[in-house]
Amino acid sequence: MCESRCKGRVKNAITATTFAILFRPAILYHWLTENGPTILELMRNSLFVLPLVISALAPGQQDTEVLAPYYETPEMVVDRMLQLGNLRPGEKMYDLGSGDGRIVVMAAQKYKADATGVELDRTLVKQSTKHLRKLGLTSTARIVQGDLLKQDYSSADLITVYLLPFGNEKLAPILEKQLKPGCRIVSHNAAFTSWTPVKIEEIASDGEGHSHRLYFYQR
Ligand SMILES: C[S@@+](CC[C@H](N)C(=O)[O-])C[C@H]1O[C@@H](n2cnc3c(N)ncnc32)[C@H](O)[C@@H]1O
Repeated sequence: MCESRCKGRVKNAITATTFAILFRPAILYHWLTENGPTILELMRNSLFVLPLVISALAPGQQDTEVLAPYYETPEMVVDRMLQLGNLRPGEKMYDLGSGDGRIVVMAAQKYKADATGVELDRTLVKQSTKHLRKLGLTSTARIVQGDLLKQDYSSADLITVYLLPFGNEKLAPILEKQLKPGCRIVSHNAAFTSWTPVKIEEIASDGEGHSHRLYFYQR
């Protein structure tokens, strides 16, 4: 009996709320004060549950940190990074924080590597994936949407990164655990301070008046 009365109340509440929202806020207020406790409790509970529902709908995003803003590497510097990394046909390379996918594209197209980009930003992932499709590179190149700190790089031959120094600090222990011996790492502008570089390459000008520094490491 109580069940049918409660159902009736909820139905009435929905009808009255819809009506009141659409036509008369004063009626809503009056109705709410009359049926106060039940409805207000329902609303309070919904508000409490809402953040949990939202976080459940976006799995894996709660504790993700942005390790660098989007800023692209000029094409001539991309080429120098891949040369410095000695990327060979068929090798597996990963660009961590792949932006518009330019490093992945060049690695697959010019260097004939198997290239994977990891990118957090869904818009950049969509754009770069579309670009790879347009270039007909999808059999050897792809972009994975996700946190670069939560992927598996154990099969990588070459890793490229262009992150802020604190991003490299967070990434270093993960790469130390995962990378196979011999794996190469090229970092644009930021060093991995706990590692000793095999080589540092200076690019005095990228053609637009900017200088760049590349750090090459080998596991
Ligand atoms: C400086 S941009 C480099 C873009 C590209 N690699 C290049 O050199 O042209 C850094 C990229 O890392 C991405 N990023 C930042 N934090 C990330 C994270 N935790 N996981 C995945 N991508 C991330 C940003 O969205 C941005 O696109």
